[in-house]
Amino acid sequence: MSITRYKIAHPDSIKPSKGEAMAKKVVIRNAELWLGDCLELMASIPDGSVDLVVTSPPYDNLRTYHGTLDWGDHVWKPVIQELFRVIKQGGVVVWVVGDATVKGSETGTSFRQSLYFMECGFNLHDTMIYEKYQACFGSNNCYLQAFEYMFVFSKGKPRAMNFMRDRENVRGGVAEGTVKHGTKPDGSRGERVQKTADDMGKRKNIWKYAVGGGNTGHPAVFPEALANDHILSWSNEGDTVLDPFMGSGTTGKMAVLNKRAFIGIEKDASYFEIARNRIEGQTT
Ligand SMILES: C[S@@+](CC[C@H](N)C(=O)[O-])C[C@H]1O[C@@H](n2cnc3c(N)ncnc32)[C@H](O)[C@@H]1O
Repeated sequence: MSITRYKIAHPDSIKPSKGEAMAKKVVIRNAELWLGDCLELMASIPDGSVDLVVTSPPYDNLRTYHGTLDWGDHVWKPVIQELFRVIKQGGVVVWVVGDATVKGSETGTSFRQSLYFMECGFNLHDTMIYEKYQACFGSNNCYLQAFEYMFVFSKGKPRAMNFMRDRENVRGGVAEGTVKHGTKPDGSRGERVQKTADDMGKRKNIWKYAVGGGNTGHPAVFPEALANDHILSWSNEGDTVLDPFMGSGTTGKMAVLNKRAFIGIEKDASYFEIARNRIEGQTT
């Protein structure tokens, strides 16, 4: 299927219009924080230079972000195209998202975005769930809203897959006969071997956290542990992690704590300062 290619202006050619934040860059050791529009600023990131993106875009128009929000498929489609350009072969994008409900129907934007990632060439590697300890209330006509999507997209097979093994295995320590090579083409079963099950098994793909935020001063913060666990799972030390919708800098804080290089972009100047303070606090 052919997709409409968006023309992205190079930052050198961008003049902020009246009242818009002037692009600004702050470097804190191996973290670069850019104030401005990610669609414009990502154009200066070289092709195939980012190992991992952990981000949460605006959820429809649920938040106005001090009136700076300009959101719709005219923005997220070219952003997704840019993500495909900047991500390395084997790189991963974690897209944490939920939908607004408009006139009694969920918008389904998260699904449309997910399908568009695939149209642009990404694999939908895993549809994961961020389950919240605290239920958010939402409509009286629905059950309590308690999760968001964490779509994991990859450009080819993920290069880093460092799976968390923190699930207690109910059969841990039990010696079991397992079939080594499965069923052969002629229908006969493979050789049986004795193996003791590990005490801890691979984590399931539903991750449960207390909601993020605390007193950061940003209205839509995701949990530090969520960012941490994805960074450890899909990247290695020294890799470059990008968050084009940096908000209060949660991904950046956890990236520097885990010895990854970081690029963060945020459009709103006051959130940019929150992120800068949080990330500076981890590196000085
Ligand atoms: C859901 S919040 C991200 C929160 C972040 N994950 C955290 O933990 O703090 C989305 C952020 O994207 C920013 N944003 C929206 N459109 C943008 C754009 N075009 N370029 C850069 N940032 C943008 C908003 O100002 C908001 O801070």
